[in-house]
Amino acid sequence: MQLTTPLDMHLHLRDGEMLDNIAKCSASTFSGAIIMPNLVPPVRTKEEVVAYKERIMKAIGDERFTPYMTLFFKPSYDKVFLESVRDEITAIKLYPAGITTNSEGGVSGFDVEELRPALEAMSELDIPLCVHGETNGFVMDREAEFVSIYEKLASAFPKLKIIMEHITTKESVEVLDKFENLYATITLHHLLITLDDVAGGMLKPHLFCKPIAKRPEDREALLKIALEAHPKVMFGSDSAPHPKHAKESCGCAAGVFTAPIALQVLAELFENKNASLENLQAFISGNAQKIYALSPLAKTVTLEKKSVTVPSDYNGVVPMYADEKIAYSIKEIKNG
Ligand code: DOR
Ligand code: ZN
Repeated sequence: MQLTTPLDMHLHLRDGEMLDNIAKCSASTFSGAIIMPNLVPPVRTKEEVVAYKERIMKAIGDERFTPYMTLFFKPSYDKVFLESVRDEITAIKLYPAGITTNSEGGVSGFDVEELRPALEAMSELDIPLCVHGETNGFVMDREAEFVSIYEKLASAFPKLKIIMEHITTKESVEVLDKFENLYATITLHHLLITLDDVAGGMLKPHLFCKPIAKRPEDREALLKIALEAHPKVMFGSDSAPHPKHAKESCGCAAGVFTAPIALQVLAELFENKNASLENLQAFISGNAQKIYALSPLAKTVTLEKKSVTVPSDYNGVVPMYADEKIAYSIKEIKNG
């Protein structure tokens, strides 16, 4: 099976030693990825985004991989600033304040008039807005409660491309087609697990993430639009590495590390569900290229049906399916 030019439209590469340790897990198999800005401190200035990109390029060595950079949204961004940084970024990521890892400086209240100057400027400059869509309500309801905020933003800024990141609920699937300017990413893990897998038996810290995995009917709704490669939906792994000790602790950090297994497991999932290779190709690259108007570096990944055991860790980070068997492995990666 061959996949061309895979793109990961939501990726955490971190910084420092972690960046150096895990960057190649994505850079070897993907052509490019949208890089999340939730560092400490978050990526908020042109200097920070340029310097972070340089650190990423250094960490990936000679892999052919494009980091599509993002800034951490601030309501105070104005047109002059956004024009100055336009060429360095592909999108801007909005986090509600305090909702997940390193999001303390995010947005509270979602007052359209307060957000108008920044969002109108983004709209004029054609900078997509990626959103972590959760309220601070009851954990299972946070994303569904956020849908009214998506509706408010999508109608107030009809020319702004709004990407609902890592959607996990049928409510998000339902709103997708109601507004022309709404799009979505879906992770691998939310296509595979429900809350039962996280907390229904022994607690599984390596499956704990934000948004938390939901109900079977939510997973079915996500599977439907992913497997049919709905044109407004893209693969975004939200691969979010944390050191093993930060996951296997009494205050477990949120994030599932899927970068090294994402393509192999997606191939297995699409095959098991009788979805076509053409749809998988659209889900992992074609749709994103159209939505973001990208022309990524060509890369061809050949997968073979050969069962392998997933390593127990990658430089101290435990991947999804650690020590378990997966059906596909990577046979060859070619540039071009
Ligand atoms: O599970 C998550 N981990 N969700 C997020 O939104 C952030 C991410 C992280 O940065 O660890
Ligand atoms: Zn994320």
